[in-house]
Amino acid sequence: MANEEKRPDVTIDFGRNPAGQDAAAPAAAPAAPAPVPAAPKAGGSQGMASQVNLKPGKGLDIGTANLLSAVRDVDENVIVKQQRNAFIDIEQNDFTRNMLTKMGVQYVVLNNKMIVIGDPAFDLANIYNRETRRPMKHGMISPDESDALPIEKLLIERLLGQPVCKGEHVYFSVPAEPIDFDMNVVYHENIFKGLLEKLGYVSKPIPEGLCVVLSELAEDDFTGIGISCGGGMFNVAVAYKATAPLRFATSRGGDWVDRNVAMALGIKASRATYLKEKAQDLRAPKSREEQAVDIYYRELIRYTLTQIKDRFEKGSDMPNFPDPIDIVFAGGTSLITGFIEVVKEEFEKIQFPIPVKNIRRAEEALTSVCRGALVAAAADDDNPEE
Ligand SMILES: Nc1ncnc2c1ncn2[C@@H]1O[C@H](COP(=O)(O)OP(=O)(O)OP(=O)(O)O)[C@@H](O)[C@H]1O
Ligand SMILES: [Mg+2]
Repeated sequence: MANEEKRPDVTIDFGRNPAGQDAAAPAAAPAAPAPVPAAPKAGGSQGMASQVNLKPGKGLDIGTANLLSAVRDVDENVIVKQQRNAFIDIEQNDFTRNMLTKMGVQYVVLNNKMIVIGDPAFDLANIYNRETRRPMKHGMISPDESDALPIEKLLIERLLGQPVCKGEHVYFSVPAEPIDFDMNVVYHENIFKGLLEKLGYVSKPIPEGLCVVLSELAEDDFTGIGISCGGGMFNVAVAYKATAPLRFATSRGGDWVDRNVAMALGIKASRATYLKEKAQDLRAPKSREEQAVDIYYRELIRYTLTQIKDRFEKGSDMPNFPDPIDIVFAGGTSLITGFIEVVKEEFEKIQFPIPVKNIRRAEEALTSVCRGALVAAAADDDNPEE
């Protein structure tokens, strides 16, 4: 398995560049041309990203909250792009068209509505005091969102751009089978497989938890536990030499914390998200709101560790780990200050079935999954050389 020698030099959030324009790859076949002038050619990392000489093989993290891609240039620098997995539709009229043009926001027209995707959708949601629409729910394509598929195609096409050569491989993250709710990942996986193949890629699904192992545990021979703590779910992989004999997902993630905090305090979930993300330290709540966040985070962590323990004990053909292993957390929900300390506190309270040497958060918690997917793409002998 190829090791990812260099950490990334460039991380791009291309929802909006400083001029307010999307400088990503050309928008996918919009129903109407975007009314903004062409994005500036140079200046900043975005221009660079489109110009660098890329090696074939891409990693894609398809998340409920965020979509991320990772590619390598010829010098093995990793380039990451990110955007929110969200959109908003607005009435088409002269006023809204002018407003979007002034804001430098690109749109496409779908079913007679103006659609804005990615980060700018959040700004507009604030302006209109509305919620954004979300193509995914609980880690999978949303059954409640009729426009989910064309929107995902647009978002992913912008993130990945064209294949750099015929038959280029994209490894894309998929959730493991959830243990606590009824959801079939086969549909989700095949939808994205088809979508990526329409874009000209050879697509390969890879479990999200295993991606964390691939990006974080190279020095341990890709052996250990990777946990991706997302918005819609937690994805766990117990890995032995880059395979994950035990993997599962739970429906409890950041959104679960938000929903419960909102219910406990009688506030909107979006307000709870805001309070959670600005919380100072999980271990030292300073208000009733922060206390609620702490309570549900602890419950979430306890639940996750207990599930791993139970699954491990019940599982047949579990690998024998000759040496103590690391547990690595990644994903947005692991970002809160005090997260790892609380994990360690809760870990001490249970009899974990295997010796653990280190519990830590990934260095690049938000981009770990797409980097891991890229490690897999780079190591695939079938991926064309150029
Ligand atoms: N600083 C922060 N503190 C706490 N939570 C945060 C912070 N930043 C982001 N989050 C939370 O992280 C979650 C999104 O994480 P991430 O981007 O890893 O999810 P995702 O990969 O899109 O979702 P999933 O893997 O479940 O499909 C959201 O619930 C968000 O509120
Ligand atoms: Mg995720």
